[in-house]
Amino acid sequence: MKPQTIETASTEPPSGGPRHVAIIMDGNGRWATQRGRPRLFGHHAGAKRVREVVESCPEIGVEYLTIFAFSTENWKRTQVEVAGLMSLFRRYITKETRSLSEFGARVRFIGDRVRLDNKLVKLMTELEAATAHNTRVNLTIALNYGGRDEVARATKRLAQDVATGKLDPADVDEETLPKYLDTYVLPDPDLVIRTSGEARISNFLLWQSAYAEYEFIDTLWPDFTKEEFGRLCASYGVRDRRFGGVKK
Ligand code: FPP
Repeated sequence: MKPQTIETASTEPPSGGPRHVAIIMDGNGRWATQRGRPRLFGHHAGAKRVREVVESCPEIGVEYLTIFAFSTENWKRTQVEVAGLMSLFRRYITKETRSLSEFGARVRFIGDRVRLDNKLVKLMTELEAATAHNTRVNLTIALNYGGRDEVARATKRLAQDVATGKLDPADVDEETLPKYLDTYVLPDPDLVIRTSGEARISNFLLWQSAYAEYEFIDTLWPDFTKEEFGRLCASYGVRDRRFGGVKK
């Protein structure tokens, strides 16, 4: 496969609030357990939170929102939970297609689609196509995504291009590899939020988050609101990001 260079986003850092926010939506299981309900109840409640956050992006000034829905490690969960999540994703895409499209969200998926069932992949592809013309907010859903897996898949494609003579190894640098990543059309995230009190990045956007700011907050994902999202983005706006340089 060729490196995909068509739409590479600008790498300029934003002047005020975060242009790209990535969220690790954690705590659905605990939220459900606290209520004496099965874990899937928490995932359904978590899915309902997504729309409010997406819809608040334009007023907050967030152009790109990337959410971690299912990791390459999540297959280790019970068969019941995995099947329930896959069914939730299918239902969510079917149900939300119209409203996301009407709102003006452009939806993309990142992650390895090979292990996902054909019906889900078809729905994902259709949603991407149906929203491809939208520009109000860019929603990227990470589904069967792992940062290491993404780098490994990118490296494999890059190696194939070297093997077939399309790419000279001497030209491989920090600008080349990202063109092979799933996120090649996205700017790097400025702010990564993880809910539920865990301070880990869990294999999310490893390459892309090299200079991101992090917010680890105690709120469980189903309790996360657009107000809290707005506050976190506002406090990002007053931080001093130097990208390894010195203050001017
Ligand atoms: C982590 O909580 C959450 C997940 C593995 C699934 C995330 C999915 C959603 C928020 C809903 C679906 C999203 C879309 C886009 C339809 P956890 O189960 O690890 O919680 P715990 O740490 O409390 O057990």
